[in-house]
Order: sequence, then structure tokens, then C-alpha cells
Amino acid sequence: MIPAHVPANRVVDFDIFNPPGVERDYFAAWKTLLDGPGLVWSTANGGHWIGARGDVVRTLWADATRLSNECLAVTPGLGEVMQFIPLQQDGAEHKAFRMAVMKGLASRFVVALEPKVAESARALIDQLRPRGRCDFVADFAEILPLNVFLSLIDVPLEDRPRLRELGVQLTRPDGSMTVEGLKQAADDYLWPFIERRMAEPGDDLFSRILAEPVGGRAWTVDEARRMCRNLLFGGLDTVAAMFGMVALHLARHPQDQRLLRERPDLIPAAADELMRRYPTVSVSRNAVADVEIDGVTIRTGDLVYLPSVLHNLDPACFDAPEDVAFDRDLTPIRHTTMGAGAHRCVGAGLARMEVIVLLREWLSRMPDIALDPAEPVRMKGGNVGACIALPLVWTP
Ligand code: HEM
Repeated sequence: MIPAHVPANRVVDFDIFNPPGVERDYFAAWKTLLDGPGLVWSTANGGHWIGARGDVVRTLWADATRLSNECLAVTPGLGEVMQFIPLQQDGAEHKAFRMAVMKGLASRFVVALEPKVAESARALIDQLRPRGRCDFVADFAEILPLNVFLSLIDVPLEDRPRLRELGVQLTRPDGSMTVEGLKQAADDYLWPFIERRMAEPGDDLFSRILAEPVGGRAWTVDEARRMCRNLLFGGLDTVAAMFGMVALHLARHPQDQRLLRERPDLIPAAADELMRRYPTVSVSRNAVADVEIDGVTIRTGDLVYLPSVLHNLDPACFDAPEDVAFDRDLTPIRHTTMGAGAHRCVGAGLARMEVIVLLREWLSRMPDIALDPAEPVRMKGGNVGACIALPLVWTP
């Protein structure tokens, strides 16, 4: 049923998990909403608002006072199951926990990790190169972030197969696992490391974060589990999705492959611009106060969905937003690929480093890549949109 405070001209039939045409093009599927009002009401998934214009998306995203992160998603029950720290916290509580997580991911640790990430990328690329073809998603994009996570928590890469299955369920869920099952599998995987790091701290990510007091006291076991779960879920499929989009761009634009090979000094700026151009994360909020915006009222208790794609690709927010311009001025960072405001991604520096490593190592070790003309690229919608199949070919 459509609530009485939702005007009829704001109602759309648009399923965030399956926007029309998403399988072929995630971005084009979402962009159809840019032609309408700035805030629309989707009747799918129990009914919720969608920010549908760049300024509305950005304004609501940064409003941590009237919009809460507690719900996590518009999917009923998901927030209650996951209980992420710091993502689902609000206000002063959120600030205390976020500070601890940010210290653990501080830029000096990201810099120190880079050689390991590069080594891991090189090993994967060297295996792929002689094959002349790959599915970039399964063969690279889903694997490198797993290696990075294992390095962060100081677990040997041989442990990868155990995490791999979980990772695939996160990036390409096949419906065989319920949300509770997925959460339980993640907790079972993580628990031995959490237990060890709480008893005998090392210098890995979990130890660093758990050594930081929260509001003047130590972490409880439950809080530690919720935080580690957040890091696992937050840093795998998001990075895999970004890798897929970067590789898709390169495959479609051989001139950019050549340019970045000739001018590797452009790679950091290219990483920033590609991350702006290919945003795939959308977030959900539950209103804890009424919000008047775009001529309508979001009522307390309503759910609001905010897709970064409708901010970054709105021509009113970025000139020629679909063009990739490595000299685009992105300072200060105004796009919402990594969020905005109180919850802006704590892994943003790490993710950026991973994209830079991908570009640098891939372009310096691989010949020109192209899309496989015989196999289609396939994409999916949802909270993290992504390529689910990205068949690439090259001449070995
Ligand atoms: C390209 C890759 C990534 C993208 C696109 C991305 C995107 C985002 C976005 C949009 C948010 C804001 C959520 C909100 O406003 O509700 C966020 C928060 C977060 N991200 Fe990322 N992320 C990426 C990589 C990572 C990595 C590598 C990690 C950790 C290892 C991570 C951990 C987190 C955490 C813990 C939060 C919650 C921060 C808070 O609530 O204060 N993310 N991310």
C-alpha cells in the first residue's frame, strides 16, 4: 500500500535489485530515474523512497541527524541480522567506534601494505597472461580483495579457499544461503582470528582496532564480532565491483590503456576519475525525523534509498558526467562513490590504493585487452551493483 503522504506523481515501479535493463548496463538502468522528480517512491521491496537527483542524493546522504543508518538496507530484517559496527551506528556511539576503525586503517598502514598488494596482483596477472582470455570477475576482481583482506588480518594466503566461497556468496549470491546463513558463515570464519587477536594482540588490522579504547573502555566480544563482520562485508564485494568497472572501461577504451601505459604518472588521477565515473554502492536510511525535501515530506519511519550513481552521473552535479577525463578536478572530493558525511568509507584510502595497483600492474604486464565478442558482459543491481561476468580476450 502506498502511504497517504506520498503524492501519486512520485510513485514508480522500480525494483532496486532489478532495474529494467540492469543485466546489460547498470548505469543506464539507473539513469532512467534522472528524467523524473528528485525523490520518488518505489512500490517494490515493501515501499521506500529513492533519491533520484544528484543534489537530493547528496543532501540526504550527509544528513546523519534526521536519517539513521540503523536499518542498513531496505530489505526487511537485514539490519537486525548484520548489526554492523560502525556502519549501523549513529551519533556519538558511531563516532567513538568509527575513530577506532579509522586509526586501524590509517594511511601509513595502507602505504605499508601496498607492496604486498602489488605482489599479489602480479602473481594473479602472470597466471592469466598466457591464457589469452579470462572472466575478469571470477579470475581477478573477486580474488585480489580476498588476498588483501587476508594480508590485513595477517592470515597466510593459503587460507584463501575458505574465504573464497564466502566471498562469492557476497559478490554473486546464488540464493543457496540465507542472510542468517551468510552472517553465521562469516562469523564462524572470523571468530578464531578475533579470539586470538583479543587475547594476544599483534600488529594486524583487527589487533590495531581492538587495541583502541571505545568511549574510554575496551571492546566487548560482541562489538568485536560486529566490527570484524563489517570490515569483511565492506571491503570485498565493493572493491571487486570497482575492479570490474575499471577493467570494463579499459576494455572498451583501448586509447586509455595506451595513454596510461605511456603516462603512468596519470594513474592516481585516473583511479580517482574512474572511481567517480563508475559508482556502484547505494545506501539505505531510516528517517528518525520528518524531512522536507524536493517538495515532499519524508516521514519518520520511512526508508530512503540513496544511489551514488544518480549523484555522480547527474549532469547538474558534474560536467559531461559520463566522460572519463583524467584531468577532471575532483578536489575536494565531491562525488559519493565512497559516501559522504559521517559514514564516509573508512576504507577509502585502501580501496584507492587497490585500484591504483590494479591499473599499474595490469597495464605494465598485460597486452591490450578487449571484450570477448562471443560472450556478453553481465551486470547486477542491488546495494552493490557489479559486473557478474566480464569476459576479456587478448593476444598472449
Ligand atoms: C571501491 C571500494 C569501496 C567502495 C565503493 C565503498 C563504499 C562505501 C560507502 C559508500 C560507504 C558509506 C556507507 C553509508 O553512508 O552508509 C562505506 C562505508 C564503509 N566502508 Fe567502504 N567502500 C569500499 C571499500 C571498503 C574497504 C576496502 C573497506 C575496509 C576494509 C571498507 C569498509 C567500510 C566501513 C567499515 C564503512 C562504514 C563506515 C562508517 O559507518 O563510519 N570499505 N563504504
